[in-house]
Amino acid sequence: MTEKIYKSFIFYCSPAGTTRHVAKVVERKLKSKKREVTVCEIGKNKEQLTRVLQNLTEIEEPVTVYIGSPVYASHALPLIMDLIERLPAKSQGYAVPFATWGGATSALALEEMGAALTARGYSVIAAAKILAVHSLMWQLENPVGSGHPDAANDRLLDDLVDAVEKNLVHSEPLILSQKVLEYQPRAMAAEMLKLNLQIAKGILPQRTINHEVCTQCGECVTQCPVEALTLAPWPVFAEPCISCFNCVRLCPENGIETDLTPIYQRIRERAQAAQEGAPSQIYLP
Ligand SMILES: Cc1cc2nc3c(=O)[nH]c(=O)nc-3n(C[C@H](O)[C@H](O)[C@H](O)COP(=O)(O)O)c2cc1C
Ligand code: SF4
Ligand code: SF4
Repeated sequence: MTEKIYKSFIFYCSPAGTTRHVAKVVERKLKSKKREVTVCEIGKNKEQLTRVLQNLTEIEEPVTVYIGSPVYASHALPLIMDLIERLPAKSQGYAVPFATWGGATSALALEEMGAALTARGYSVIAAAKILAVHSLMWQLENPVGSGHPDAANDRLLDDLVDAVEKNLVHSEPLILSQKVLEYQPRAMAAEMLKLNLQIAKGILPQRTINHEVCTQCGECVTQCPVEALTLAPWPVFAEPCISCFNCVRLCPENGIETDLTPIYQRIRERAQAAQEGAPSQIYLP
């Protein structure tokens, strides 16, 4: 029997870098197996995304698409859900959603990504959630999810790729049941549905430019993952903002003021309420 050659694609968004780390571990493992891998970070480079989607449309071999999102306000990022909607129909398309989460709750990200991928015609054959340091808590000494992803998480991801590749050797790869991704208790899932990024943006603290210290250097513009900032001549926030707070965190002058302290308590309360077992886990059929 000749082995089918799968081409792999990795799409992800990673404002603070942990989802990028996961994507890199997956890429490295796939390459160690001599797989052809195309990696595309979502957010800024729209031309690259269009090109990669075009390439995905045109190739005739079976494909495996890994799609990664941080959990934001109980869901995958809207731009990742939009990307799933744009994936071309494939006769042999397999998908592996993965999510990084900041220790509050991984919530509905994997179940929603899984359902959307299935609706798009992709067979979901595995998934993963990986605990990561909470990206709103960088000012704290002991943030939730501190020290993650770590080496054990990387090994888990290696196992994920091993299992996916082993499964793809079958003429009919095993499919992951959507039920497996619906691991949140349904009453809690219903509560989680009431939150989303739009609502969170209204709750998160305002950011104010301190004109005394801002040097108009443009670093915040460069570091914004979704082109939501312009200098005019001071930084101005626009609608695509996803509230990642990169601009605040990475400004060399501390020129964008905000007070995240009320949010810390809220994050810890959500972690307490969700009591999510298995901080990092891979899901296999
Ligand atoms: C606006 C915002 C909302 C977030 N919401 C959640 C959440 O609902 N649950 C959670 O566990 N972590 C949440 N996080 C933390 C991120 O999911 C986590 O830090 C993730 O690893 C960030 O990925 P990145 O490093 O690729 O940006 C949130 C972070 C931000 C900035
Ligand atoms: S990075 Fe800081 S100093 Fe530079 S333009 Fe942005 S707010 Fe101003
Ligand atoms: S404007 Fe700031 S908070 Fe909004 S997406 Fe860009 S970097 Fe993130």
